[in-house]
Parts: sequence; C-alpha cells; structure tokens
Amino acid sequence: MSAEIWNRVDDYLEASFGFEDPVLAAARVASTAAGLPEIAVSAREARFLALLATMAGARRILEIGTLGGYSAIALARVLPADGRLVTLEFSPKHADVARANLAAAGLADRAEVRIGAAIDTLAALRAEAPAPFDFVFIDADKENYPAYLEAALALVHPGAVIVADNVIREGAVADASSADPRVAGTREYLARLAAEPRFLTTVIQSVGRKGYDGMAISVVRSL
Ligand code: SAH
Ligand code: DHB
Ligand code: MG
Repeated sequence: MSAEIWNRVDDYLEASFGFEDPVLAAARVASTAAGLPEIAVSAREARFLALLATMAGARRILEIGTLGGYSAIALARVLPADGRLVTLEFSPKHADVARANLAAAGLADRAEVRIGAAIDTLAALRAEAPAPFDFVFIDADKENYPAYLEAALALVHPGAVIVADNVIREGAVADASSADPRVAGTREYLARLAAEPRFLTTVIQSVGRKGYDGMAISVVRSL
C-alpha cells in the first residue's frame, strides 16, 4: 500500500464523480498560481465536507483557516441562498486570493473572509453576538485547535457539527511523546472532545491524495 495507489484511486473517484468541477478547479489553479502552499483539502474531501454540512442542514458555517478558499467554496455552495459562511485567515495574501476565488465562484454574497489571528477574530466575532453557527470546520494552525474548539463552542447551538482536519498526521497522533507541537495540539483537541460529554465524536482515518491523515467529526449535544 502506497501513495501511488491512493492517488490512483482518488484519480478514479474524481473522474467518476466529478468532485473537482471547473469552479473548484479554477480556485485550486489560481491558488497555486498565486504561490499559496498546496495544502487545501482534496476534491473528495471537499465533497465530504459539503456532504456533512448538508446532512447538518447548515445555514450558517464558520471556517477557521481559509487559504485560497477551496474548502470555503465547497461549503458555501451547499448553503441556501440566504445562508452565510464566515472564514478566518491570518494571511492577508491568502485572504485576497480567497476573496477573488469566492467571487469567481459567484459566492461573494454569502461568504465573508475575515483577516487576523483566528484567536482574535473569533473573539471579535463572539463580541458581535451573531446567530449561532450550525457547522464549523477547523483547519488552521494545529497548535491552537484546543482554543478554537473552545471558541467554536461559544458560537454554536446544540446539534451543530464541528469538523477538524489533519488529526491523524501520518499516525503521529498516537505518539504521546511527540515533540511536534502540532501533534500535541491535535492530541489536546481530541482529549477535550473525549472528556466532554456534550460532544459525540468519531475520528476518521483516511488515505488519498493528501497522504495518510484524517478528520475528527463531532456533534454538540444538548445535555
Ligand atoms: N481550509 C483550507 C486550507 C487551510 S490551510 C482549504 O482546505 O482550502 C491553513 C490556513 O490557516 C492557511 O491559509 C494559514 O495561513 C491559516 N492560518 C494559520 N495560522 C492561522 C491563525 N493563527 N489564524 C488564522 N489563520 C491561520
Ligand atoms: C498543512 C496544513 C493543512 O491544513 C493540511 O491539510 C495539510 C498540510 C500544513 O500546514 O502543512
Ligand atoms: Mg487541512
């Protein structure tokens, strides 16, 4: 088993289902052309996120970590016409690219990119007392995942879904003695999910174009 077969299967599935339609393809090409790192979710993962958001009946989506807006486009597209996506990005350059990609996708009316360290923009968002979010996708700096979970919890309602990317890290997540702060952040994130009865959680291990990684999927229950 190797990356070669994982890539070949993703090629096959993408060709069969058209996971990467011209709008998403254009966003990926524009992001790479602008020099952004190629770390967006894969087309198949983007469909998975869109599927989860649809299953959750999401009308308000919060994303932490925008990059060029690839996952934001996939998520905002499944919103109803009066739905809203807010996505948080530290890098003004990434945010510029994302805004252009969201506009090209025809989603400028329902997607908003906010620039700043997410810890700060989450606090600012909370101060606005917005209507609660139905779906949260956490995909920024892994060290701060525990803080993002806490902030997200204050911004959602019971029944909301919280998804976190990159929680397997080629298996490194199982290494309690890892010196990698991203592993430590991920482990603390999962520990908090496990410790809090309000979360109903599973963790998906996956292989594919993005290597061996996975997502944590949680529902916030009303207890
Ligand atoms: N969700 C995107 C990929 C996000 S990559 C997609 O799948 O298309 C992670 C992004 O988080 C990068 O753009 C990075 O600049 C941003 N980021 C890193 N640290 C951050 C922070 N402290 N606050 C907000 N964004 C941050
Ligand atoms: C990295 C970040 C991501 O969110 C991802 O999906 C893959 C890689 C990174 O920072 O290297
Ligand atoms: Mg990611």
